[in-house]
Amino acid sequence: MNTLIIRYTGKASLAPAAEIIRNGGLVAFPTETVYGLGANALDGEAAKKIYSAKGRPSDNPLIVHLASPRDAGKYCVVNRLFHSLAASFMPGPLTVILPKRPVIPDSVTGGLPTVGIRVPAHKTAHELISLAGVPIAAPSANLSGKPSPTSFSHIEHDLNGRVDALIDDGDCDYGVESTVVKLVGNGEIRLLRPGAVTVEMLSLICDKVTLDPCVTGKFDGVPEAPGMKYRHYAPDAPLTVLDGPDEAVYEFLKKQRRCGIICFEEDLPYLPEENVFSCGPKNDSLAQAHNLFACLRALDGARGVDVIYARLPSRVGIGLAVFNRLIKAAGFKVMKL
Ligand code: TXA
Ligand code: MG
Repeated sequence: MNTLIIRYTGKASLAPAAEIIRNGGLVAFPTETVYGLGANALDGEAAKKIYSAKGRPSDNPLIVHLASPRDAGKYCVVNRLFHSLAASFMPGPLTVILPKRPVIPDSVTGGLPTVGIRVPAHKTAHELISLAGVPIAAPSANLSGKPSPTSFSHIEHDLNGRVDALIDDGDCDYGVESTVVKLVGNGEIRLLRPGAVTVEMLSLICDKVTLDPCVTGKFDGVPEAPGMKYRHYAPDAPLTVLDGPDEAVYEFLKKQRRCGIICFEEDLPYLPEENVFSCGPKNDSLAQAHNLFACLRALDGARGVDVIYARLPSRVGIGLAVFNRLIKAAGFKVMKL
């Protein structure tokens, strides 16, 4: 397939992309979290193409992206708690799962009776949804199982030749996907995937915020977010997360050969130079979120890397999202040192 590359130079440059979406095609576009692979969310056949382009299992539902939270009631059944969340966090990196209305095809929700709704804050994403005039169903624009794309080079690598158009608009701000929550009536927020809208922030809106077991560990039951059961974000070489004090980690890493390392900036002077990537300062979870997937992708292509080790991040604030993505990429292998 011939893929049209669109360099974003203002709203007018998005006209061909909006037309592709309206005609049932696929467009990869930037958001403030990660790049998404979009199709018309009201067109079941268009949504099916997303699954084949990504190699994604068809039971894993897509998030529906809207230009405004005011449109949500057309596509799902909203409640009071949704309105409170929307007032605080939309537009922004939050996806809220609610009972879907029949206009949303089953292929978008993987057959589930619910739909995830998100209103991106990214200017380009917002302009694309407005120009298309339809809600846009979009998962992250990576090949299934690979780290989510946080820059144009990532979507070019994964999807050039597989989709109708790619929008080139630089790096994503947050670098981890949106926070996904399910509302249990008006009284409980269930966190299915941590992101930049943190547990601490959600707790300001609702007294009861509960964590799905998939957020912090391996879960053998049926997860509420189908996507949480797949091995995700994984580079080719196996990854192990190292849990221990600085000295113990440096000692351990000194003895390893043919390994790639994801570390904190402060670690760099104590580690070899080759195949070592800093995801940011130890106390800067925002920077770590921004850089994590690019580190994983860089190590994917690196020569002489048979195994990868990463330092254990903090779980506070957006740190919980970094921790969650890292342990999933590691298949939950954490080594205590
Ligand atoms: O930041 C993001 O959320 C990005 C950008 C493009 O918006 N999108 C994204 O989509 O990360 P995706 O498909 O890679 O991840 C969506 C997650 C999956 O784990 C999926 O199973 C879950 O949300 N999900 C979506 N709809 C759901 C539903 N109705 N019920 C339960 N989980 C749902
Ligand atoms: Mg994804």
